[in-house]
Amino acid sequence: MRAASENDPQEVPPSRFFRRETGALSVEGHALSAIADEVGTPTYVYSRSALTAAYEEVTQAMGTLPHLVAYAIKANGNLAILRHLASLGCGADIVSAGELWRATRAGIPPSKIVFSGVGKRDEEIEAALEADIRAIHVESEPELERVAEIAKRRGAAARVALRVNPDVDAKTHPYIATGLHDTKFGLELPRARALLPRLLGSPHLLLEGVACHIGSQLETTAPLTEAVALLSDFARECVEAGAPLRSIDVGGGWPMAYGNEHAPYPSHQAFGDAIRSGLQNAPDGLEVITEPGRALVGDAGALLTRVIYVKRGGGEPARRFVIVDAAMTELIRPALYEAYHAVDLVEESAAARAPADVVGPVCESGDFLALGRHLPVDLTRGDLLLIRGAGAYGREMASAYNARPPAAEVLADEESFRVVRRRASVASLSLLEEE
Ligand code: LLP
Repeated sequence: MRAASENDPQEVPPSRFFRRETGALSVEGHALSAIADEVGTPTYVYSRSALTAAYEEVTQAMGTLPHLVAYAIKANGNLAILRHLASLGCGADIVSAGELWRATRAGIPPSKIVFSGVGKRDEEIEAALEADIRAIHVESEPELERVAEIAKRRGAAARVALRVNPDVDAKTHPYIATGLHDTKFGLELPRARALLPRLLGSPHLLLEGVACHIGSQLETTAPLTEAVALLSDFARECVEAGAPLRSIDVGGGWPMAYGNEHAPYPSHQAFGDAIRSGLQNAPDGLEVITEPGRALVGDAGALLTRVIYVKRGGGEPARRFVIVDAAMTELIRPALYEAYHAVDLVEESAAARAPADVVGPVCESGDFLALGRHLPVDLTRGDLLLIRGAGAYGREMASAYNARPPAAEVLADEESFRVVRRRASVASLSLLEEE
């Protein structure tokens, strides 16, 4: 992931889905200014066609491989989005009982749900077994014992997959790299291997698959091929040891362009090819599971926000702060990872441009959405900005810090747009507190 301050392109790259029509931005033919007027700001706006296109691009890249796209719903668990992806045939990668509830509620069949994560609690394992999901991805020895114990108590056999940590450097932002031995994820290969006798000897465990996820926003495909090849070898060992393996899960990491790339990320086709080439030594007949998150929803969503004030700062040269009604509470990625998001003007302006920092009202200097962007000098109170590429890890990572009620969400299609999550009220923030 490239830092916000790095390589700031002066031009916002055009979007296929948030398009400029007669000077003003629209989504699926609806003016964003009309959405802002009707729903208020800040608001997340999603395009249904973009979701469909993204799903189709991933499935096309998987080509003729027998496969399941298990959407990493941590990227965006809005029920309307999940329902739409479910209607296209998508499964889910979940990491909590809460996400299990969302996935099944949205109509994703349990047979298409896998459960990742290093810290599954007993009640979450119970819920997964009760729902009869496809597989629990086991990430440690004590977790395997808990799953076996709970399955035994239920008089059932739990379908599990072993998540392997292949010790491959995904060469991405350290916070989103998950495939190295110094991260908390998965089991080192020798430890995964050592679990095979335990797994195969238990009437309460069924080894249904092997899995890995080396990280997000992969800048090159070589680490992916390397990890998938190691996983394929391990899958072969499992089969040879007698495991009834059905799937090989290669994780997520399909990259998306945010607009400040020095060099393009690998295309979806190249990503699919990298998976295929890693699978060369895999046993026959396995279904390949992939877990894209941002690649399905990132580009489909943007954060619509309105300028509250424009303020001259001090310093040399003096800074210009564009203070908007969205903040790190709505979109924490810039503050957390110095992530870059393109900032577009809803209404075009012919005015000259000068650098400005787009910041929120939260009382933290790290509360910024964009730094040093070339924005029109006449930008003023009431103007609307669109923070692009915010469909993934945007609303989902929102907080109510500073008692700010989380933003509304709107889903647009060719016919209409509708609010798919209402803006929380201030009162709702204290509903669970004592009077
Ligand atoms: N599978 C597993 C097991 C994961 O942990 C993740 C993401 C994915 C799939 C999906 O990764 P994706 O395809 O979206 O890159 N908050 C960060 C991203 C954290 C990703 C955590 N795991 C961000 O805003 O960039």
